[in-house]
Amino acid sequence: TMLAPVAALAQAYPDRPVTIIVPFAAGGPTDTVSRLVGEVMSRELGQQVLIQNVGGAGGTLGAGQAADAEADGYTLLIHHIGMSTAPTLYRNLPFDPLTDFTPIGLITEVPMTVIARKDFESASLADLVEKIKAEGEALTYGNAGIGAASHLCGMLLMEAVGAQMTTVPYQGTGPMMTDLLGGQIDLSCDQTTNTTNQILAGEIKAYAVTVPERLANLPDLPTTAEGGLPALEVSVWHGLYGPEGLPQEVVDRLQAALVAALADETVIQRFAELGTTPVSAEEATPAALTETLTSQIATWKPIIEAAGAFAN
Ligand code: MLT
Repeated sequence: TMLAPVAALAQAYPDRPVTIIVPFAAGGPTDTVSRLVGEVMSRELGQQVLIQNVGGAGGTLGAGQAADAEADGYTLLIHHIGMSTAPTLYRNLPFDPLTDFTPIGLITEVPMTVIARKDFESASLADLVEKIKAEGEALTYGNAGIGAASHLCGMLLMEAVGAQMTTVPYQGTGPMMTDLLGGQIDLSCDQTTNTTNQILAGEIKAYAVTVPERLANLPDLPTTAEGGLPALEVSVWHGLYGPEGLPQEVVDRLQAALVAALADETVIQRFAELGTTPVSAEEATPAALTETLTSQIATWKPIIEAAGAFAN
Protein backbone atom coordinates (compact mmCIF):
# COMPACT_ATOMS: atom_id res chain seq x y z
CA THR A 1 0.00 0.00 0.00
CA MET A 2 0.97 3.65 -0.14
CA LEU A 3 1.40 3.78 3.64
CA ALA A 4 4.08 1.10 3.91
CA PRO A 5 7.09 3.27 2.96
CA VAL A 6 6.14 5.94 5.53
CA ALA A 7 5.87 3.34 8.31
CA ALA A 8 9.19 1.83 7.27
CA LEU A 9 10.81 5.27 7.33
CA ALA A 10 9.51 6.00 10.83
CA GLN A 11 10.74 2.66 12.13
CA ALA A 12 14.17 3.36 10.73
CA TYR A 13 14.57 6.59 12.67
CA PRO A 14 17.25 7.36 13.59
CA ASP A 15 19.56 5.77 11.03
CA ARG A 16 22.29 8.43 11.28
CA PRO A 17 23.66 10.88 13.89
CA VAL A 18 21.25 13.33 15.50
CA THR A 19 22.45 16.92 16.03
CA ILE A 20 21.31 18.99 19.00
CA ILE A 21 21.85 22.71 18.53
CA VAL A 22 22.91 24.43 21.76
CA PRO A 23 22.38 28.17 21.24
CA PHE A 24 25.37 29.18 23.41
CA ALA A 25 29.12 28.59 23.44
CA ALA A 26 30.73 25.29 24.41
CA GLY A 27 31.73 24.82 28.03
CA GLY A 28 28.77 26.77 29.45
CA PRO A 29 25.69 25.65 31.38
CA THR A 30 23.39 24.80 28.44
CA ASP A 31 26.24 22.87 26.86
CA THR A 32 26.86 20.96 30.12
CA VAL A 33 23.20 19.92 30.51
CA SER A 34 22.94 19.03 26.81
CA ARG A 35 26.06 16.86 26.77
CA LEU A 36 24.99 14.92 29.89
CA VAL A 37 21.49 14.30 28.51
CA GLY A 38 22.72 13.77 24.94
CA GLU A 39 25.08 11.01 25.98
CA VAL A 40 22.28 8.84 27.38
CA MET A 41 19.91 9.73 24.55
CA SER A 42 22.58 8.52 22.15
CA ARG A 43 22.69 5.15 23.90
CA GLU A 44 18.88 4.92 23.81
CA LEU A 45 18.62 5.93 20.15
CA GLY A 46 21.49 3.73 19.01
CA GLN A 47 23.00 6.68 17.15
CA GLN A 48 25.52 9.37 17.93
CA VAL A 49 24.08 12.58 19.36
CA LEU A 50 26.22 15.50 18.28
CA ILE A 51 26.18 18.86 20.08
CA GLN A 52 26.47 21.87 17.80
CA ASN A 53 27.16 25.15 19.61
CA VAL A 54 25.59 28.10 17.77
CA GLY A 55 26.12 31.09 20.06
CA GLY A 56 25.06 34.67 19.42
CA ALA A 57 22.23 37.14 19.96
CA GLY A 58 21.35 35.77 23.38
CA GLY A 59 20.46 32.31 22.08
CA THR A 60 18.16 33.56 19.31
CA LEU A 61 20.63 32.78 16.52
CA GLY A 62 20.83 29.06 17.34
CA ALA A 63 17.10 28.82 18.04
CA GLY A 64 16.37 30.42 14.66
CA GLN A 65 18.68 27.95 12.95
CA ALA A 66 16.83 25.03 14.58
CA ALA A 67 13.44 26.49 13.56
CA ASP A 68 14.63 26.61 9.94
CA ALA A 69 16.02 23.05 9.90
CA GLU A 70 14.42 20.07 8.16
CA ALA A 71 11.68 18.56 10.38
CA ASP A 72 13.14 15.06 10.17
CA GLY A 73 14.42 14.52 13.71
CA TYR A 74 18.09 14.95 12.78
CA THR A 75 18.32 18.56 13.96
CA LEU A 76 17.00 19.39 17.45
CA LEU A 77 17.38 22.25 19.92
CA ILE A 78 17.98 22.42 23.65
CA HIS A 79 17.15 25.89 24.91
CA HIS A 80 16.15 27.39 28.22
CA ILE A 81 14.08 30.22 29.74
CA GLY A 82 15.35 32.43 26.90
CA MET A 83 12.66 30.89 24.66
CA SER A 84 10.12 32.72 26.85
CA THR A 85 11.89 36.07 27.23
CA ALA A 86 13.02 36.52 23.59
CA PRO A 87 9.49 37.16 22.18
CA THR A 88 9.21 40.23 24.41
CA LEU A 89 12.85 41.31 24.26
CA TYR A 90 13.01 41.14 20.45
CA ARG A 91 10.32 43.05 18.61
CA ASN A 92 11.59 41.49 15.36
CA LEU A 93 12.29 37.94 16.45
CA PRO A 94 12.62 35.79 13.29
CA PHE A 95 10.71 32.86 14.84
CA ASP A 96 7.72 32.20 17.09
CA PRO A 97 8.64 29.90 20.02
CA LEU A 98 5.08 28.55 20.20
CA THR A 99 4.45 27.80 16.52
CA ASP A 100 7.82 27.29 14.82
CA PHE A 101 8.93 24.33 16.95
CA THR A 102 7.73 20.86 17.91
CA PRO A 103 7.98 20.57 21.71
CA ILE A 104 9.41 17.28 23.00
CA GLY A 105 9.79 17.78 26.75
CA LEU A 106 11.12 19.72 29.72
CA ILE A 107 14.56 18.70 31.01
CA THR A 108 15.49 20.50 34.22
CA GLU A 109 15.27 23.76 36.16
CA VAL A 110 18.57 25.32 37.24
CA PRO A 111 19.06 27.92 40.01
CA MET A 112 21.30 30.92 39.39
CA THR A 113 24.00 32.50 41.53
CA VAL A 114 25.04 36.15 41.85
CA ILE A 115 28.81 36.02 41.41
CA ALA A 116 31.89 38.26 41.26
CA ARG A 117 35.57 38.02 40.52
CA LYS A 118 37.50 36.54 43.43
CA ASP A 119 38.96 39.82 44.73
CA PHE A 120 35.76 41.88 44.42
CA GLU A 121 35.39 44.05 47.52
CA SER A 122 31.75 43.49 48.59
CA ALA A 123 31.38 40.96 51.42
CA SER A 124 27.62 40.32 51.21
CA LEU A 125 24.64 40.84 48.91
CA ALA A 126 23.68 43.94 50.94
CA ASP A 127 27.20 45.35 50.45
CA LEU A 128 27.01 44.55 46.76
CA VAL A 129 23.73 46.46 46.42
CA GLU A 130 25.37 49.55 47.99
CA LYS A 131 28.39 49.23 45.72
CA ILE A 132 26.25 48.99 42.57
CA LYS A 133 24.27 52.05 43.72
CA ALA A 134 27.49 53.98 44.34
CA GLU A 135 29.52 52.93 41.31
CA GLY A 136 26.89 51.95 38.70
CA GLU A 137 28.33 51.99 35.19
CA ALA A 138 31.90 51.87 36.48
CA LEU A 139 31.17 48.20 37.22
CA THR A 140 31.13 45.55 34.48
CA TYR A 141 28.49 42.81 34.30
CA GLY A 142 29.11 39.87 31.94
CA ASN A 143 26.22 38.14 30.22
CA ALA A 144 25.50 35.94 27.21
CA GLY A 145 23.55 38.57 25.26
CA ILE A 146 19.98 39.81 25.33
CA GLY A 147 17.78 36.73 25.80
CA ALA A 148 20.27 34.79 27.91
CA ALA A 149 19.43 33.75 31.47
CA SER A 150 22.43 35.79 32.63
CA HIS A 151 20.84 38.78 30.89
CA LEU A 152 17.51 38.20 32.65
CA CYS A 153 19.13 37.83 36.08
CA GLY A 154 21.21 40.98 35.52
CA MET A 155 18.10 42.87 34.45
CA LEU A 156 16.31 41.80 37.66
CA LEU A 157 19.35 42.71 39.77
CA MET A 158 19.72 46.17 38.23
CA GLU A 159 15.96 46.77 38.52
CA ALA A 160 15.99 45.73 42.18
CA VAL A 161 18.98 47.95 42.95
CA GLY A 162 17.80 50.84 40.79
CA ALA A 163 21.14 51.35 39.01
CA GLN A 164 22.67 50.19 35.73
CA MET A 165 26.07 48.57 35.24
CA THR A 166 28.08 48.30 32.02
CA THR A 167 27.14 45.10 30.21
CA VAL A 168 29.83 42.96 28.58
CA PRO A 169 28.17 40.42 26.24
CA TYR A 170 29.60 36.99 25.32
CA GLN A 171 28.50 34.08 23.10
CA GLY A 172 27.75 32.13 26.26
CA THR A 173 28.63 32.14 29.93
CA GLY A 174 31.41 29.58 29.31
CA PRO A 175 33.65 32.33 27.87
CA MET A 176 32.18 34.83 30.37
CA MET A 177 33.44 32.61 33.20
CA THR A 178 36.95 32.59 31.72
CA ASP A 179 37.01 36.40 31.93
CA LEU A 180 35.50 36.46 35.43
CA LEU A 181 38.16 33.99 36.62
CA GLY A 182 40.80 36.20 35.00
CA GLY A 183 39.41 39.32 36.68
CA GLN A 184 38.61 41.05 33.35
CA ILE A 185 35.00 41.67 34.46
CA ASP A 186 33.50 42.35 37.90
CA LEU A 187 30.17 40.57 38.17
CA SER A 188 27.64 38.21 36.67
CA CYS A 189 24.72 35.97 37.53
CA ASP A 190 24.92 32.48 36.10
CA GLN A 191 23.50 29.00 36.53
CA THR A 192 24.86 26.61 39.17
CA THR A 193 25.65 24.16 36.34
CA ASN A 194 28.42 26.63 35.40
CA THR A 195 29.35 28.17 38.76
CA THR A 196 29.29 25.43 41.43
CA ASN A 197 32.83 24.13 40.90
CA GLN A 198 34.38 27.62 40.82
CA ILE A 199 32.43 28.70 43.93
CA LEU A 200 33.45 25.58 45.87
CA ALA A 201 37.08 26.02 44.79
CA GLY A 202 37.05 29.65 45.94
CA GLU A 203 37.96 30.85 42.45
CA ILE A 204 35.03 33.28 42.33
CA LYS A 205 32.87 35.00 44.94
CA ALA A 206 29.18 34.12 45.30
CA TYR A 207 26.60 36.29 47.08
CA ALA A 208 23.29 34.52 46.73
CA VAL A 209 21.26 31.84 45.02
CA THR A 210 18.19 33.07 43.07
CA VAL A 211 15.65 30.53 44.38
CA PRO A 212 13.51 30.53 47.57
CA GLU A 213 15.43 27.69 49.31
CA ARG A 214 19.14 27.18 49.91
CA LEU A 215 20.80 24.47 47.80
CA ALA A 216 22.14 21.16 49.10
CA ASN A 217 25.32 21.50 47.03
CA LEU A 218 26.02 25.11 48.19
CA PRO A 219 24.46 25.14 51.69
CA ASP A 220 26.38 28.23 52.92
CA LEU A 221 25.09 30.45 50.14
CA PRO A 222 22.11 32.60 51.26
CA THR A 223 19.05 33.03 49.06
CA THR A 224 18.43 36.41 47.45
CA ALA A 225 15.43 36.82 49.78
CA GLU A 226 17.65 36.22 52.83
CA GLY A 227 20.09 38.74 51.38
CA GLY A 228 17.39 41.42 51.03
CA LEU A 229 16.49 41.12 47.33
CA PRO A 230 13.37 38.90 47.18
CA ALA A 231 12.50 40.28 43.73
CA LEU A 232 15.62 38.66 42.32
CA GLU A 233 14.09 35.23 41.85
CA VAL A 234 14.59 33.15 38.72
CA SER A 235 15.18 29.53 37.86
CA VAL A 236 16.26 28.45 34.42
CA TRP A 237 14.01 25.79 32.92
CA HIS A 238 15.27 23.89 29.86
CA GLY A 239 13.43 22.10 27.06
CA LEU A 240 14.05 19.87 24.05
CA TYR A 241 12.51 20.91 20.72
CA GLY A 242 12.47 19.96 17.07
CA PRO A 243 11.49 22.18 14.16
CA GLU A 244 7.75 22.60 13.52
CA GLY A 245 6.11 19.54 11.94
CA LEU A 246 8.20 16.73 13.42
CA PRO A 247 6.44 13.38 12.67
CA GLN A 248 4.66 11.94 15.74
CA GLU A 249 6.70 8.70 15.61
CA VAL A 250 9.89 10.73 15.80
CA VAL A 251 8.57 12.82 18.71
CA ASP A 252 7.62 9.62 20.58
CA ARG A 253 11.05 8.07 19.99
CA LEU A 254 12.88 11.21 21.15
CA GLN A 255 10.61 11.71 24.15
CA ALA A 256 11.20 8.12 25.31
CA ALA A 257 14.96 8.66 24.97
CA LEU A 258 14.69 11.92 26.94
CA VAL A 259 12.75 10.22 29.74
CA ALA A 260 15.40 7.48 29.88
CA ALA A 261 18.19 10.07 30.06
CA LEU A 262 16.49 11.92 32.92
CA ALA A 263 16.14 8.64 34.88
CA ASP A 264 19.82 7.74 34.37
CA GLU A 265 21.76 7.46 37.66
CA THR A 266 24.84 9.26 36.33
CA VAL A 267 22.74 12.14 34.98
CA ILE A 268 20.87 12.42 38.30
CA GLN A 269 24.13 12.40 40.26
CA ARG A 270 25.94 14.93 38.03
CA PHE A 271 22.87 17.19 38.07
CA ALA A 272 22.78 16.99 41.90
CA GLU A 273 26.47 17.92 42.15
CA LEU A 274 25.67 20.95 39.98
CA GLY A 275 22.65 22.08 42.01
CA THR A 276 19.79 20.72 39.94
CA THR A 277 17.51 17.71 39.35
CA PRO A 278 15.94 16.25 36.21
CA VAL A 279 12.19 16.84 35.78
CA SER A 280 9.78 13.94 36.32
CA ALA A 281 8.67 11.70 33.43
CA GLU A 282 5.30 13.53 33.45
CA GLU A 283 7.09 16.83 32.79
CA ALA A 284 9.38 15.45 30.11
CA THR A 285 6.46 15.68 27.67
CA PRO A 286 5.37 17.96 24.82
CA ALA A 287 2.29 19.09 26.78
CA ALA A 288 4.30 20.11 29.86
CA LEU A 289 6.86 21.99 27.76
CA THR A 290 4.13 23.86 25.88
CA GLU A 291 2.41 24.76 29.16
CA THR A 292 5.63 26.05 30.74
CA LEU A 293 6.62 28.01 27.62
CA THR A 294 3.17 29.61 27.35
CA SER A 295 2.94 30.58 31.01
CA GLN A 296 6.57 31.80 31.15
CA ILE A 297 6.06 34.10 28.14
CA ALA A 298 3.13 35.65 30.05
CA THR A 299 5.12 35.85 33.31
CA TRP A 300 8.15 37.66 31.88
CA LYS A 301 6.39 40.00 29.41
CA PRO A 302 5.28 42.66 31.92
CA ILE A 303 8.56 42.43 33.87
CA ILE A 304 10.66 42.98 30.75
CA GLU A 305 8.36 45.76 29.54
CA ALA A 306 8.61 47.52 32.93
CA ALA A 307 12.40 47.31 32.73
CA GLY A 308 12.35 48.61 29.13
CA ALA A 309 15.06 46.11 28.23
CA PHE A 310 14.41 45.63 24.51
CA ALA A 311 16.91 44.32 21.98
CA ASN A 312 15.38 45.85 18.85
C1 MLT B 1 25.07 29.36 28.34
O1 MLT B 1 24.87 28.17 28.09
O2 MLT B 1 26.09 29.95 27.96
C2 MLT B 1 24.09 30.10 29.19
O3 MLT B 1 22.91 29.37 29.36
C3 MLT B 1 23.92 31.47 28.75
C4 MLT B 1 22.89 32.17 29.58
O4 MLT B 1 21.70 31.97 29.32
O5 MLT B 1 23.23 32.95 30.46
